Amino acid sequence: MPQRTLAGVLAALVAGAALAAAAPAIRAQTYEDIAPILAARCAMCHSGAAAAAGLALDSLEGLLKGSRNGPVVVAGAPDKSELVRRLTGKSQPRMPMTGPPFLSDDEIRRFERWIAAGLPTGGGVAPSAVAIPRPAPGEPVTYLHVAPIFATRCAKCHADKGIMGPPPEGYRLTSHAETVSARDRARVVPGQPLASELLRRVRGIARPQMPLNGPPYLEEKEIELIDRWIADGARDAAGQPTPLPVGARVRLHGRVRADGTLDGLRFEGDAARGRERPRSDRQAELRGQVEANGTIRAERLR
Ligand code: HEC
Ligand code: HEC
Repeated sequence: MPQRTLAGVLAALVAGAALAAAAPAIRAQTYEDIAPILAARCAMCHSGAAAAAGLALDSLEGLLKGSRNGPVVVAGAPDKSELVRRLTGKSQPRMPMTGPPFLSDDEIRRFERWIAAGLPTGGGVAPSAVAIPRPAPGEPVTYLHVAPIFATRCAKCHADKGIMGPPPEGYRLTSHAETVSARDRARVVPGQPLASELLRRVRGIARPQMPLNGPPYLEEKEIELIDRWIADGARDAAGQPTPLPVGARVRLHGRVRADGTLDGLRFEGDAARGRERPRSDRQAELRGQVEANGTIRAERLR
């Protein structure tokens, strides 16, 4: 075998590199190029019978069929395609719902070029199994792990264009920021599942139990995951804990137990001293606020 010269090897390398660099520019984007992104970042919520917004993104057929609001891609017109508008944030809530992090500019461009090219299918794409993210043992639960539950079981009502019209109680479950928002009142108190009306509602200790259209309600392992997510600090998808919303209002439902707690939740304030305490084991509503040390100060209990 003749020995290759250094110059020859270099020339071959340069030609190879040039080809590799030119390849994406000369080849149109196809479904094959975006399918892995859809599988990794979207299908956890957009697949199966309860797919978020009725939009299945685990197959080309589902994508082309669109959501319960209609088509999400318009061949040749990325700007008019709801899918691109969601990826860039022109339409809210921005996708993926677990973001930030959202998709990179390069990834978004792949979707735009695929739509601009007229939605070419490319070669066959074997449907990949949908991977629902689960925390590894010992790892804290983050929004990434609980968001698919909210998307598939709650967002059909708790969203701007939900099936009941405006979000019930003005509470949206379509992003981490909205889920933990304390704007009018906190439904999630990080570190305190029992002080979180969200957990009380999915457990059924606050009525009506959620999801409102249940049964079926959530599975026990889903409820436990949400419980751990709140106990672990209601972390966002990147793992950052949510700060305690000091001074935020809370409105909790449940039963005052013989030990003076609301289903195990200790609270302080005049209402706690029994003046207004309802007879034990009756349904009660507690209104109060979150103190700097995390204690719930009850202002009204009835
Ligand atoms: C954690 C769950 C979740 C993930 C992950 C997610 N979505 Fe969504 N998506 C939703 C929910 C919930 C809605 C409905 C929210 C609304 O419109 O108020 C929605 C709505 C949409 C819509 C609008 C449908 C319509 O016509 O109203 C599009 C398009 C969309 N998602 C695309 C994507 C894409 C693309 C990805 C991945 C890059 C993605 N989503 C990832 C939960 C999710
Ligand atoms: C079919 C529509 C529907 C679905 C699905 C649904 N909800 Fe609700 N949700 C409501 C309505 C209506 C209310 C107000 C009911 C009331 O308190 O009388 C409500 C109230 C709530 C509240 C109390 C809000 C507050 O301000 O105190 C929480 C928390 C809540 N829902 C969480 C959830 C969660 C979590 C899910 C999913 C597991 C869910 N909901 C699914 C309709 C729905």
